[in-house]
Amino acid sequence: MEQQHIILSQDLEKELTEIVAQCSPDRIFVLADTTTERLCAPRLRDIEAISDAPHIIIGATDTYKNLDTLSQVWTALGEGGASRHSLLINLGGGMVTDLGGFAASTFKRGITYVNIPTTLLSMVDASVGGKTGINFNGLKNEIGVFNSAHTVILDTEFLRTLDHENVCSGYAEMLKHGLISNRKNWSELINFDLDEVDYKHLQDMVATSVAIKERVVTEDPLEKGIRKALNLGHTVGHAFESLALRTNRPVLHGYAVAWGLICELYLSAVKTGFPHDVLYQAVRFIRENYGRFDIDCKQYPEIIELMTHDKKNTAGIINFTLLGDIGDIRINQTADRKEIEEALDFFREG
Ligand code: GLY
Repeated sequence: MEQQHIILSQDLEKELTEIVAQCSPDRIFVLADTTTERLCAPRLRDIEAISDAPHIIIGATDTYKNLDTLSQVWTALGEGGASRHSLLINLGGGMVTDLGGFAASTFKRGITYVNIPTTLLSMVDASVGGKTGINFNGLKNEIGVFNSAHTVILDTEFLRTLDHENVCSGYAEMLKHGLISNRKNWSELINFDLDEVDYKHLQDMVATSVAIKERVVTEDPLEKGIRKALNLGHTVGHAFESLALRTNRPVLHGYAVAWGLICELYLSAVKTGFPHDVLYQAVRFIRENYGRFDIDCKQYPEIIELMTHDKKNTAGIINFTLLGDIGDIRINQTADRKEIEEALDFFREG
């Protein structure tokens, strides 16, 4: 997988103009969803290098991250005269960058694409690292390929369009990046005020967070080893997210990850010696900013069952990424049913 360029944007017009000059595409298309078309696309309209590009507009939210929408994008590219030398610019959150990245990677066996993430979640996670795909048969990201964007442009001005919940959601992935890096990052993250966001400070923290992810992805682009560090909090987090969907109380991805972090840091404390003081710092910060997710012990079997379906597992054994300390990453860990139940007890009571 080719390495992508990541630009912390200073001047969107200049950067896009340079990318277009570098790629010299025969045609350019912009992919947006109904929300980003309204809130974010106006900033692209006046950029001369792309002002003639047709906008392909798809439904917003994860429910549209499916084969029908993908087919609409392929059709729009085909009808718009896209060739192998065309360029697709994905403007949106993770749903748009994942689906657009997959559409570009498969159209005529692959055209160049650029991501302009507009949510914190997609800036620090989804749009970086080359994972593309769609949901299929009720399973998240079931179909997809690894293929990097030519460039990811991080323009934190777009973050001002986000509501508080979406800032918190993306911030959970930043907490994860802090935990797999060092104490300085972690300490900065848990001292940031999510209720009164300082956007200038957030921009610096986004740059640090993305650099952490980029380092991991460069070392292991296809997730054979150390990239699994990025799954911290996600084994339990995905199970909570699926349970929330099934019980008609959907939650934002980052909230489920934050709650998953509590359980997985507990397992880390029990199994790999993770320091208790940091566990309690995490619990405090997450409780204060993400609230609680009500689960009942009668739901434990269902939650554990959901964990066994995770695509990170092999041979039905639940795979966790745990920590021995901040930055001391232990991939390919397992936990038995009793240990997982204990972690869920801690989550409910802690
Ligand atoms: N979202 C985790 C990864 O990109 O590997």
